[in-house]
Amino acid sequence: MTIKNSYKMKIQNLITSIQEKSIVEQLQFLAEKFAGKIAFSTSFGQEDQVITDIIFANNLPIEVFTLDTGRMFEETYKTLSKTLRKYDKKILVYFPEKEQVEKFITEKGAYSFYESLENRKECCNIRKIIPLKRALENVDCWITGLRAEQSTARTSLALLENDENFGVIKYNPLKDWSLDNILEHIKKHNVPYNVLHDKGFISIGCSPCTRAIQSGQDIRAGRWWWEDNSKKECGLHA
Ligand code: ADX
Ligand code: SF4
Repeated sequence: MTIKNSYKMKIQNLITSIQEKSIVEQLQFLAEKFAGKIAFSTSFGQEDQVITDIIFANNLPIEVFTLDTGRMFEETYKTLSKTLRKYDKKILVYFPEKEQVEKFITEKGAYSFYESLENRKECCNIRKIIPLKRALENVDCWITGLRAEQSTARTSLALLENDENFGVIKYNPLKDWSLDNILEHIKKHNVPYNVLHDKGFISIGCSPCTRAIQSGQDIRAGRWWWEDNSKKECGLHA
């Protein structure tokens, strides 16, 4: 059997083991299976706040981390603070490498991402992808807040998948959740959330690259709005 096929089988076996379980049971099962090597990445959006709530409220042994790009909204930093206050747990913060940011801004200025796709990808690479690689260095199972209905590129999302880019198994527990499911959980459990969601923001990334959307618009219409729809991924989720 090839390595690729044995990986596929491992993932299929894991899916079979967890697919009938509740989200808390799934997280418990994987936390045991990947003990000390399982981590959840949060951008403090509403999906991520649901997962953070489940991990912290149930004292699950899962590391929670964020990639602080240095260009986040003030409201996002306040959500980080509110979350620390509510749960009294640790959230690891990963910064980009300062030499890379200094060189990039010195050579291209602070808003070069509006000028070309190449610049935008370079910025995302420096501020998100390279720090994510560092965050996942000792991780085998990476948990994300992705949902299938967020975009056409995400409709075929799997519960567990092999992420060859980062060399991990990726677990997407909210794959089949609707936005209403997310909002219900937040309300029911009094989960702190980013107040930008009350102002028309749905998917929230860096401040210069995210804006509010009108009702009826695509969930990700406010992200990199000046770019073609097919390019709207930063490389975290290829
Ligand atoms: S992105 O690729 O367009 O930026 P999106 O904002 O939809 O991703 O978020 C999807 C998932 O990626 C989140 O649920 C979270 O797990 C992870 N993620 C995105 N941005 C960050 C960040 N800055 N820090 C940590 N995790 C992030
Ligand atoms: Fe840079 Fe915008 Fe990407 Fe953030 S989303 S890393 S500011 S290009």
